Amino acid sequence: MNKKLEKTAGRLIQKLIDSVEGARLSQEMVKAGGLKEIMPGAPELLRTASAESCVLLKNDGTLPLDPAEPVAVFGRCQSDWFFVGYGSGGNVNAPYKVSLIGGLRNAGIKIDEQLYSEYEAWRAIEENMADEGWWGHQPFSYPEMPVSFELARSAAERCGTAIVVIGRAAGEDRENRLEKGSYYLTDTETGMLDAVCASFSHVVVLMNTGNIVDMSWTEAYEEKISAVMLCWLGGMEAGNAVCDVLFGKVSPCGKLPDSIARNYEDYPSSANFGGLEYNDYAEDIFNGFRYFDIHPEKLLWPFGYGLSYTSFADEITDYSRSCVRVRVTNTGTVPGKEVLQLYCRQPKGNIPKARRVLIAFGKTDELQPGGWQEVELSFNDSYLASYDETLSAFVLEAGSYAYELNGLDAGGFELAEPVTVQQCRPACTGLADVKNRILRGLPAETPKKDGPALSLDDVKAGKASLDDFISQLSDSELEALSRGHGMINSPLGVPGNAGVMGGVIPSLREKGVRPVSCCDGPAGLRIARYCSLMPCGTALAATFNTQLMEELHRLTGREMIKYGVDVHLGPGMNIHRNPLCGRNFEYFSEDPVLSGKMAAAAVRGVQSQGRASCPKHFACNNQETKRNTNDSRVGERALREIYLRGFEICVREAAPLTVMTSYNKVNGVWSHYNYDLATTVLRGEWGFKGCVMTDWWMKRSRSPEFPKLRDNAYRVRAQVDVLMPGDMGHIAKRYRSDGTLLKTLGREGGITRGELQRGARNVLGLILRLDAKKQG
Ligand code: BGC
Repeated sequence: MNKKLEKTAGRLIQKLIDSVEGARLSQEMVKAGGLKEIMPGAPELLRTASAESCVLLKNDGTLPLDPAEPVAVFGRCQSDWFFVGYGSGGNVNAPYKVSLIGGLRNAGIKIDEQLYSEYEAWRAIEENMADEGWWGHQPFSYPEMPVSFELARSAAERCGTAIVVIGRAAGEDRENRLEKGSYYLTDTETGMLDAVCASFSHVVVLMNTGNIVDMSWTEAYEEKISAVMLCWLGGMEAGNAVCDVLFGKVSPCGKLPDSIARNYEDYPSSANFGGLEYNDYAEDIFNGFRYFDIHPEKLLWPFGYGLSYTSFADEITDYSRSCVRVRVTNTGTVPGKEVLQLYCRQPKGNIPKARRVLIAFGKTDELQPGGWQEVELSFNDSYLASYDETLSAFVLEAGSYAYELNGLDAGGFELAEPVTVQQCRPACTGLADVKNRILRGLPAETPKKDGPALSLDDVKAGKASLDDFISQLSDSELEALSRGHGMINSPLGVPGNAGVMGGVIPSLREKGVRPVSCCDGPAGLRIARYCSLMPCGTALAATFNTQLMEELHRLTGREMIKYGVDVHLGPGMNIHRNPLCGRNFEYFSEDPVLSGKMAAAAVRGVQSQGRASCPKHFACNNQETKRNTNDSRVGERALREIYLRGFEICVREAAPLTVMTSYNKVNGVWSHYNYDLATTVLRGEWGFKGCVMTDWWMKRSRSPEFPKLRDNAYRVRAQVDVLMPGDMGHIAKRYRSDGTLLKTLGREGGITRGELQRGARNVLGLILRLDAKKQG
């Protein structure tokens, strides 16, 4: 197919998808929604976050640049900057977006206009225009303008410094590829670097990417490249923020949330990633730095790395078993913030250990030269513990525990005897007798409360108990509470919603049960209104700044109130297991503590405004290939220490009101049917009290333990409360139940009314929480 035809076909396909989805992203709707209103304080906050996310990987002193000197800017992404990834986690309707060129102009920097005009003329040619493709088929990068040696040389006659932008995109439903233009540089990009490096003595490379991509070329160019900075997908203020760092308004203070290996094959998961049916997590707990600490020769830059324009002296002032205090002094010549990373070296013991685990982190305020601050980093035993599969428990083995803060010894303690930190139940292993576990946990039915018909308003007013109200709901009302309204962009919700749950049928609404609007996330609100577009998840993790994260999500919460959104479908918090995962940009890090703490901050921010967060995707959605059918085969220890740990921290520390399951299977059982995930672990062990929803649509299946139960009945038995958006993926069945939930109700081996009531309690509990906050 020629290019033009392909583009037209792509546009048609996108139109079709939009119409099936109810045109949730139609620009007409967004425009009809009104003014490009911007929340007070949002631009400044987003700019700070994006600047704090920049990770300076290399600098020979060229940065910060002198704002009085002109720069020559290469790479089309100077204008076609990638602000966020594709898919549900992107596509926020930002009121504006500042590209690098926009940022340079705003900062009053002189750029080489001649070179810029060459780029503009080239970008204006139809076949060179940035084409966004369609769902699952968006470009990984745009074709780059070829840069001849002559072009570079002539620009070098006018400017002393070149800035080169390399841009990469990624998105949902598709992996990045081990190809030029995705993981690797294209020949045109290499040609651009060759020409620029041969002509300029100062070359600054900016990486505009959400995923880690191949960086081995930085070694080949050696000192010809003066500075390399990872700018991520920085949201709508990205261009301003990057300039703040380039020209020294902000000293870089982002750190790598992921290890950068020299070769793709060096990543421990690379041999077991992308499987069409399953992936063996053969690397066990040795993901990210837990592996590279043992193989440092494979690294280009380690987890936690990032340069600054200033320097700091850290002095440990105190420590105990659960806390380290440090005094940080800015010993350099410019103001800056310091990130503090606290690791623990656990004793060798009987369980194989990583060399160190991250147990806490923090960030100072901006310190003036000579200024200092004391920071306390606290944690508890669970951060130091390992999961012992033979005991089904988190334990501290006997021996010495040594703390290390930014490379300094920071105390520790000795344990003469092992300690059990938490006794668990074996979960997701296929070993436990899940059938009996479920039967023992079956909830009793709440008998019908006689008397006048109750409404949810009576419960809100304290005139009736929630159980009494639930006891009066009919079977079909209980069924309706266990699924969404059946479509994306439901007319019952906020325009552009991803789905609506709660009052999805008239009789429920008559009883005071209102519809609950659920909207994507995580990079802001994805609705048919103008909303703040945030830096992507990985960028936010790179700030290592939980306070900033919380503040950003208070902003999300305020926008939710303004537009009537109830549930924010974020944060995305799957672990970065492999750099090719198409949705890594939405997620935080290879490390569960960084992921969990960042997610907890996001949840606290949104929920401080009386709205609900929905951390996702629970659990092990670590690849996009065949994401609805793929099986993540992972040992229980790695599951608990790496893939569930972030969710555990988030649930224990921030109590999200909802959680979304993942599409994939975990050890053979789809997450949306997974009793151990949703009930044994999430609620039983971590104390989750909210409502669990599926990711959008689910796969049909029969329960192996209870053969009479299939699909929605199988799901409700697992205590996955709500099927979203509500249908089984068949347009004809919208608005209607598929019948699988009530078919066996009250029959031998069937679903029980008690289970339906339990799900209703979780959904209505959410509404009560949302509305209580509203009133208060
Ligand atoms: C994604 C979720 C998203 C949902 C609703 C799914 O395709 O996996 O992350 O929240 O769609 O848009």
